Amino acid sequence: MSILKIARMGHPVLCRRAEDVADPGAPEIHALADDMLQTMQDAPGSGLAAPQVYVSLRMVIFRVPLTDIEEIAGGEPPLTVLINPILEPLDDEMVTEWEGCLSLPGLRGLVPRYAHLRYRGVDLAGAPIDRTVEGFHARVVQHECDHLDGILYPQRMTDLTGLIFESEMRHRIAEARARER
Ligand code: NI
Repeated sequence: MSILKIARMGHPVLCRRAEDVADPGAPEIHALADDMLQTMQDAPGSGLAAPQVYVSLRMVIFRVPLTDIEEIAGGEPPLTVLINPILEPLDDEMVTEWEGCLSLPGLRGLVPRYAHLRYRGVDLAGAPIDRTVEGFHARVVQHECDHLDGILYPQRMTDLTGLIFESEMRHRIAEARARER
């Protein structure tokens, strides 16, 4: 296993549509998943798409608590390897929240995403994945799968005043707290 270099915004691999994975069970796909996991843990991040490590294939990995019980139990949320994904927003409701991306180090953006999402695909054994999700889980999947279509989160933003440096987040947090009072 190795920690791979992460492509940064501006590299063409992040701008193109990635190819379908022909054989999810192939040894090189398993090896890629292992390397992506190590790379994501090292970064650290909660998700990573194959194009971010210069491999133009439709595969993403991410960690989110799948159920409330897992959330309460704590520990490390389970890893999902999602291959050849298909996303289906379940309604028009959008939620705007902060996102970051390992390909845009040091930046954060307020990004609208579909609130309710069904996604399908296969895992490394070729077994089907079919989940209906919301919240952070729905956001991560939309963010990671956008990478497979050459889309980075600023392209989803509707107000670029919400694109800021991580080091300035404290000002936004202070403003939000002041508004709550
Ligand atoms: Ni990203």
